[in-house]
Amino acid sequence: MTSKRLISIDDFIEKLRSFEQSLITRDCVLDFCSSIQITDSSLDPYVFFDDKFYTRNLIYRDDLVEVMTICWQPGQKTAVHTHNGQLCWMITQRGSLGVVDYKWIGCDHPEYQNVVGLDCVAGSEHTKLEVIREIEAGAGGPVLTADKLQTIHRLYNLSDRKERAISIHVYSRPIDSCVAFDMENQRCYRRQLAYFSKYGEAAPKDDASVTAAPFVQIT
Ligand SMILES: [Fe+2]
Repeated sequence: MTSKRLISIDDFIEKLRSFEQSLITRDCVLDFCSSIQITDSSLDPYVFFDDKFYTRNLIYRDDLVEVMTICWQPGQKTAVHTHNGQLCWMITQRGSLGVVDYKWIGCDHPEYQNVVGLDCVAGSEHTKLEVIREIEAGAGGPVLTADKLQTIHRLYNLSDRKERAISIHVYSRPIDSCVAFDMENQRCYRRQLAYFSKYGEAAPKDDASVTAAPFVQIT
């Protein structure tokens, strides 16, 4: 197995920015992410845990790329969600994450997908999804992706004991909202996304984007 090159988060972002000069493809970013390991020390400012929800911590953002850590206490998980038609790459930095990929089978308002700038308006009450695979991603393991062909998944901290997990997520373009699924009632709806911290600073508690965070946040 080829050993991974150890680099800081700053160098990681600098390389990501170089991809902005031409087409950003799933595979060019995937190959890069698979070839490196980011140093723990460079990520320290972006690691925050919360007992209620997993946390989304913004490290870098421009028009094309968004980079964050997500920090998971044991048992924390996302809702089943989409990525607004964008691409996403995930590196597990610490611990182990589980990913369940879903396929959209149908709903009673498929025409809601005919909208500019969003993957779907959402609002269906009879959404059918099917599990197509479950994957484990431990630290140093495979880099996982969501893309235009496989856009629906759920993530969770795989540890059933006391182990925290940290993952690094790259989105292109940045995602401010997505579709979340209420699996019990076959409903879907749009959700705004919030940051727990930005650029190493915890967001103020009265920040509307934080107080509006849903009961299960989305990655
Ligand atoms: Fe996701």
